[in-house]
Amino acid sequence: MTLDPDVTIRPYRASDRPRVRDICFVTGYMGEPVDWLWRDRESFADLFSGYWTDREPESALVAETCGVVAGYLLGCVDSRKVWNMGTLMGRHLVRRGMLVRPGTAGVLWRMIGDIVVDGIRRKLPPLGVHDPRWPAHLHIDLLPECRGRGVGAELVRRWLQTLRDVGVPGCHLETMAENTGAIAFFESVGFRRQGPPSNAPGFRSQEGARNHVQLMVQPLTAVDTPGRLLGDEV
Ligand SMILES: CC(C)(COP(=O)(O)OP(=O)(O)OC[C@H]1O[C@@H](n2cnc3c(N)ncnc32)[C@H](O)[C@@H]1OP(=O)(O)O)[C@@H](O)C(=O)NCCC(=O)NCCS
Repeated sequence: MTLDPDVTIRPYRASDRPRVRDICFVTGYMGEPVDWLWRDRESFADLFSGYWTDREPESALVAETCGVVAGYLLGCVDSRKVWNMGTLMGRHLVRRGMLVRPGTAGVLWRMIGDIVVDGIRRKLPPLGVHDPRWPAHLHIDLLPECRGRGVGAELVRRWLQTLRDVGVPGCHLETMAENTGAIAFFESVGFRRQGPPSNAPGFRSQEGARNHVQLMVQPLTAVDTPGRLLGDEV
């Protein structure tokens, strides 16, 4: 799909931060608003966009329509550098009283319960993906009006090219296994599923069914001219 000419893709700027955090929150449940599940914008945006906007802004891209940011790709070149999710969550639990706050207490107590039960059954998901074959990762979210216009594909294409340019061997991402549209999109831009889905502690559908996380990966090969791999004898 070719990029809609009415959409501009550009590097992230510090002034985009509030808008990116809003988009993170209103697309937070598989592209839908997450407030029915997690009604605290600050903690949600910190967990799912904070590191990427605040510590690695050079790896972020935004998409603009009519001069307004309507989507982003947040990248990370070396996943070992990302803030520890447990530590970050612990900080919010204390500072924002999330275990007693009406909009977050439910999901967090359920998360704790799931972690205990999944731990006993040895079905806990890994805490972070650290595999030298795909050290980089990405998050991508577009507002509904920006979808289906080639924007996602172009954002991913540019991010993967950046990674190739600096010789990164591969990229991964995690998405909800139930987000079948996103999985189809990622497959169309070259990712493949890696391993079976794992449980997503605390997360449920509106009907109460458990959600799962699917790891997807894409090995990258640096190419400087078509048909010739970097490092090949000329
Ligand atoms: C998933 C998302 C990033 C895709 O971006 P997009 O701009 O809508 O996708 P594009 O228009 O670039 O489409 C690229 C290809 O993916 C396919 N695709 C995109 N969305 C799809 C969907 N929901 N179902 C099936 N295929 C889809 C397109 O058909 C297209 O295929 P083609 O190249 O063969 O024509 C975007 O829809 C989105 O932000 N969704 C909500 C948030 C989300 O789910 N994020 C991912 C969570 S990790």
